[in-house]
Amino acid sequence: MPVLDRLRNSLLLAFLGASSVIVGHSQVPSGNAPHLEKRGNTTQLIVDGKPFLVLGGELHNSSSSSVEHMKPVWPHLAAMHMNTVLLPIAWETIEPEEGKFNFGDVDGLLEGARENHLKLVVLWFGAWKNTFSSYVPAWVKTNTERFPRVQMSNGMGTERLSPLSSAVRAADAHAFANLMRHLRDADQDARTVLMVQVENEVGVIPESRDHSPVADASFTAAVPSTLTGFLEKHRTTLNPELRAAWEAEGAKTAGTWQEVFGKTPLTDDLFMAWHYATYIEHVAAAGKAEYPIPMYTNAALIRPNYGPGQYNSGGPLPHSMDIWRAGAPSLDFLSPDIYFNEFAQWAGWYARPGNPLFIPEAQGGATGAANVLYAFGRLSAIGFSAFGVDDQDNAPLDLVGITNPAEHPDTSVLSSMYADLSKLAPMILEKQEVGGITAALIEGEAQRSAKQRIGEYAASITRTGGTSGARIGVMFIQTGANEFIVAGCGEAQISFSTDQHDLPIVGIESIDEEFFVNGAWVVRRRLNGDETSQGQALRLHATDLAQGRIYKVRLYRYR
Ligand code: DGJ
Repeated sequence: MPVLDRLRNSLLLAFLGASSVIVGHSQVPSGNAPHLEKRGNTTQLIVDGKPFLVLGGELHNSSSSSVEHMKPVWPHLAAMHMNTVLLPIAWETIEPEEGKFNFGDVDGLLEGARENHLKLVVLWFGAWKNTFSSYVPAWVKTNTERFPRVQMSNGMGTERLSPLSSAVRAADAHAFANLMRHLRDADQDARTVLMVQVENEVGVIPESRDHSPVADASFTAAVPSTLTGFLEKHRTTLNPELRAAWEAEGAKTAGTWQEVFGKTPLTDDLFMAWHYATYIEHVAAAGKAEYPIPMYTNAALIRPNYGPGQYNSGGPLPHSMDIWRAGAPSLDFLSPDIYFNEFAQWAGWYARPGNPLFIPEAQGGATGAANVLYAFGRLSAIGFSAFGVDDQDNAPLDLVGITNPAEHPDTSVLSSMYADLSKLAPMILEKQEVGGITAALIEGEAQRSAKQRIGEYAASITRTGGTSGARIGVMFIQTGANEFIVAGCGEAQISFSTDQHDLPIVGIESIDEEFFVNGAWVVRRRLNGDETSQGQALRLHATDLAQGRIYKVRLYRYR
């Protein structure tokens, strides 16, 4: 069965909390450094002592290699209403010569962000970026003897450093520790850098595992007892696919990789996952010893029907998350880069107990605007970030009803969503902690409606617009037993029902249109008549976002 199908089958169990993932063992740093904290129902990112919602954008890969190039970009990013920029810092930039570090560019980037009141998530492009080792310094790249590569089964090398090499690991960890020491010295007071991503979309392609001599030897040696012990301890909550593979071989606590997990390509993937995880653990731990702010790594996801080696084999994917947690406890969470249409499904697989959801890369525009509502409202995400924000990422203007762009210097749909979310953030963060927030998503062409429970009510959301494929996101924030704030993205109509038998009919008591004026949400119009289908439904418009409009809905029940 293809991996994606197996994942799909395991969705139910995953939603039922079948997870052994535990929040990373990061030290809470001294002082007021950014950290994760369990608060009520959720885990939040705490910045300057307060919960923080990352409204982020990731730069194109080469933008942050030049402080000059970034100068005119920063103000544009700030104008897009994002509060955090995700940017690469490359090993080749900070350690061009072995042992000689240069943090001039890092300091310039910190300064640019601060001048524009932006926070940063640093992406450590160390040994790997999208499986390749293209960001390592020349002294690493060219010394293939000292720094061995992943090998194909025919003995040929690839431009990927082997995660089984202790020399690579030591050099990478040394560089990363130096970066984190510098960030501590240069930033612990300003707290511009919130978190660090360690490496980027690791894994091997086009074969499912490394075939270097060291890797071959390790593959036929015993699975480390740290891993089998973890599987035993967390057996009932393991990812169902991982558990099935392990149990199919008798849930052994000793044996080679194929004896423990079976003679399948998945075993290659799990083997690589263990080696990437333990490598990254070494690097992350070295960094945290210098400056313990939250750290994570990200996954490239799996296309339908792709097997190990067609996707990044060994990456932090849903089926190998337990291996990663066993091997890399210094990582605070694992993140998905979601470019696929099935946003709710993929995001849901990562929003597991103990693995707070942070999406470092995703589509922007109208798609991102709908998805971010779902991530924050339904999955209590700590952050969301669209990729490639420095090319302005403008969605078609007519989608938001903008006919004269000159009147709207900020024309990105996602920017408008961020503008609204930055005003709603205090409420969202509070409700993520105490409960009373949810969201729904209408994803594809085929989907016309969605249903979502909110308190004692059920909201039925139906697509009304002509752009049938556009996705629709709706966030509901409960502000009283019968009162809700509704923020939406897309053209839809929402009606309400209940499963409460005493008073089974739901009426709309009132709908008020609200805008954010002088620091507070204020009512502008009481909506009724044609604007609410004669008091029977809340209508969301394509222009809601661009105009900064949300709704306060009051419901009542009768028989
Ligand atoms: C995923 C990578 O993680 C990013 O760095 C970038 O290369 C994007 N893909 C491009 O779509």
